Amino acid sequence: MSSATSRQPPAAAMDICDLAPPYVRAIAPYQPGKPIAELARELGLEEAGIIKLASNENPLGVSPLARRAIEAAITGLARYPDGNGFDLKRALSRRHGVAQECVVLGNGSNDVLEMAARAFLTPGLEAIYSQHAFAVYPLAVQAVGATGVEVPAKDYGHDLAAMRRAVTARTRLVFVANPNNPTGTLARPREIEAFLSDLPGDWRMNSNPTASAG
Ligand SMILES: Cc1ncc(COP(=O)(O)O)c(C=O)c1O
Repeated sequence: MSSATSRQPPAAAMDICDLAPPYVRAIAPYQPGKPIAELARELGLEEAGIIKLASNENPLGVSPLARRAIEAAITGLARYPDGNGFDLKRALSRRHGVAQECVVLGNGSNDVLEMAARAFLTPGLEAIYSQHAFAVYPLAVQAVGATGVEVPAKDYGHDLAAMRRAVTARTRLVFVANPNNPTGTLARPREIEAFLSDLPGDWRMNSNPTASAG
């Protein structure tokens, strides 16, 4: 390297975030439920006296069956697992009486919601969800640059008739959280079934209620 080159001022520092698309930069991170230890520290409380209702956690502790299965799997940790989850899909398909290819596995259902957004949405396409519905829906849609259509809630729950009216030729996903998080409202199976069967023809192919994400 010549001495002239080495004396050049360093290029202005680049912020790597500037390379991300604007819709990704605009994402506000999802706020997960606060860990009990953090709340105890914050408020000076005993951890044992706190009951956490915010997350899908099991207050009864790890099931002995899950513990045994985890212990049995430890010897295989040096290998990549089967990313397609063949054995688990087969067990789930038998238990629920559905074809194996109808089972989608993810690291939690958030992962499946994000997969659905990546698979079906692009900028210019739309996904519908309700006001006050699960916070991940708008984030998953925004992360792929698609348009989220928020339908006003009815009594804090899903207004399925209004959601049906919001479906357009650009709609690719409709998220229905049932029961809803965070408002706890519940749509009855017959309401969900009526909603699905009222969707435009192509959608009816997937009118199994489990196909409603969330
Ligand atoms: C409606 C809904 N969908 C999905 C999730 C994500 O759950 P997990 O990723 O733990 O399966 C939650 C979590 O609270 C939820 O309330």
